[in-house]
This record gives sequence, C-alpha cells and structure tokens, in this order.
Amino acid sequence: MGWNSWNHFAGHVTDADIRAAADALVSTGMRDAGYVYVNIDDTWQGERDAQGVLHPNERFPDMKALGDYIHSKGLKFGIYSSPGAKTCAGYAGSLGHEEQDARQYAAWGVDFLKYDLCYFQDEMRKAGSRAAARDLMIAAYRKMGAALQGTGRPILYSLCQYGLDEPWKWGPAVGASMWRTTDDIDDSYARMSAIGFSQAGLSGFAGPGHWNDPDMLEIGNGKMTEDEYRTHMSLWVLLAAPLLAGNDLSHVSEADRRILTNKDAIAIDQDSLGQQGERLHQAGDLDVWTRRLGRGKVAVGLFNRAWSPRDVSVDLAEIGFPTGAPLRDVWKEQDLGRHTGVFTDTVPRHGVTLLIVSP
Ligand code: GAL
Repeated sequence: MGWNSWNHFAGHVTDADIRAAADALVSTGMRDAGYVYVNIDDTWQGERDAQGVLHPNERFPDMKALGDYIHSKGLKFGIYSSPGAKTCAGYAGSLGHEEQDARQYAAWGVDFLKYDLCYFQDEMRKAGSRAAARDLMIAAYRKMGAALQGTGRPILYSLCQYGLDEPWKWGPAVGASMWRTTDDIDDSYARMSAIGFSQAGLSGFAGPGHWNDPDMLEIGNGKMTEDEYRTHMSLWVLLAAPLLAGNDLSHVSEADRRILTNKDAIAIDQDSLGQQGERLHQAGDLDVWTRRLGRGKVAVGLFNRAWSPRDVSVDLAEIGFPTGAPLRDVWKEQDLGRHTGVFTDTVPRHGVTLLIVSP
C-alpha cells in the first residue's frame, strides 16, 4: 500500500510534490492506515554522465535527500524505470545499465522499483518470433530482478508490462512481488470497471509476497461518483490488489479520505490468508464477488453495474453459512445482525454493498 505520482501529476511531478505527498500521507492518517510507499513514477530521469551514471533531472535536485525525507516520515521510497532504452514518457531507461541503476537506487535508499516495459518492445520486435520476444522480455525482467537482489537492499520489484504473456505465471521466478495484469487504468467508471470485473480466474496466482496488480487507484481524482469510487475500492480489496493511491493528497475530500482509509476495506485487502477473491455470479448488470478471509470470514461484494438502483442478493448457504451468520456492512460502517438464507440489498447505480460475513 502506498501512493504513486502518475495518475495525478503524470509528467509534471517534482521533488516538492513528492514531499507534499509524504507529508499528506501522515496528516490524512493514510500512513497509519497502511499506505507506506511513496513512489515517483516516470519523468524523474535526467542524463547519464560519462561513467553511465543516471542523474535525476532538474525537478529532482537530490534523490538521496528526498529518500531520507520520505524515510524520516516512517514511509518507504519507490522509483520507476524501464528495461528499454527509454521509458514510456521518453526519459532514460535502464537498458544496458541494469546493475548500475540498481546500485544507484540502493544508494538513494530506494525500497520499491516499478519496471515498465515501454521501449523494450522495440527490442522484442527484433526478436523474430513471438516466442523469442517473450523470452527476451522475461530475460530483461529477470536481469533487473537479479540486479536488485545483488544490491543487498530489499527493493520490492513491481512489473509493469500490461499483463502480456501471463506475468502471473513467471513473475515470481524473476523476483517480482507484483505484476500488472492489464493496460492502464484511467479515472472513469468504464475503464476502472472493465479492468476490475475482468480479473476473474487469476486468484490461483496470487498469495503472500506475490500479487496480481490491476493498476493504481483513481479514487479522489474527481471523475467518478462516490459510489463508483466505492466500487473501485471494493473490487481492488476483493482482488487482494496492491493499493497505490493516485490522487493529489494535499487536496483530499473527506469522502475520498473515508473511502481510502476505511478500516474494514483495508483489512479485507491486507487479510493474512492472502487469498484473492473471485466472481461468484454474474447476471446482466449484477455481479457478486467473494473473498475468503482468515478466521473463517468471507467478504462479499454485491455490485450493480446498471444505470439505476437494483436489488442484488447473495445466498449465505452458498458461501458456506448454511445456518446463517452475522453481517457487517463495510461502507455503512454498521453491523447488520444475524441473517439466514438469501440476503438482498438495494444497491445504487454503479455502486456496491460490501459485506463481511463472520462464522
Ligand atoms: C505506462 C504505465 C503507467 C505509467 C506510465 C508512465 O506504461 O502503465 O502506469 O507508469 O507508463 O509513462
């Protein structure tokens, strides 16, 4: 859990923005809720010197000092690169400089690397066949994984190659703790829900230390309704997804802060069983997902993807509670008492009722 600069600041991010984000993680209570990584995405890079050492650009005058500042707040420091000659935004990538860059990150105190395929696709096109291109890509990811390990500093390795060639099958072997499963998210219900609801079938590949990543959060960026952002958070926590906020933390509304820091939602996401959720049923615009939690609990998402309110139900017997069970409504922050048989709720358009069922 943490924050990443891309979804809000994109190519304009500065040292001051990162420091402000670190400050805000503390003042909003997000750090204490679990959001600890502060990740600079693309566009921090400057030029390589004669020795090949990559320096940050003028927007980041002193990376070591920035890392120290982040660490002084009880937070962790993340950075971004590409296995290609260039990053997506056209800045210097790590091709041919993997070990040197990994050493540099370690020297700056980096704790997290997002490694984004981008221009490495130019190399893959030269490979001759699809299979050769895939092997080349995996080798490039393995190379940086080994380089990070070689630094002796624990640096969480996050793959970003848009889910090409099923990274959930080879990600752990190259040293990754997480891998993107899809192309980029944006701040729209259409894109967010297309990504979230397409994640069925991947639960077997996630578990403690290795996670499917349906991309960063858009909560608070302003283009979805509150119900839609609750759907976003609910889907991501049911999917055991990394939670990387992507909004401007120096201007967080109370509603967005409540969504991002809801204790029950975060407890579902971070549940120690590490079992990713799955779709239970889909019927037209109604989607029901469940996630098995520790201590015999089950999280249930009753989603309404329609444009008007709908009744959405779950049969408690079907999810392992034949004699009924107490329910908690995560977003209402209310215990609903004991229920038996079919539980039905009226869910607003594009909204969700997120439940925790206890034995
Ligand atoms: C994309 C990546 C985004 C962001 C962007 C930066 O490829 O998926 O998350 O990192 O590049 O240029």
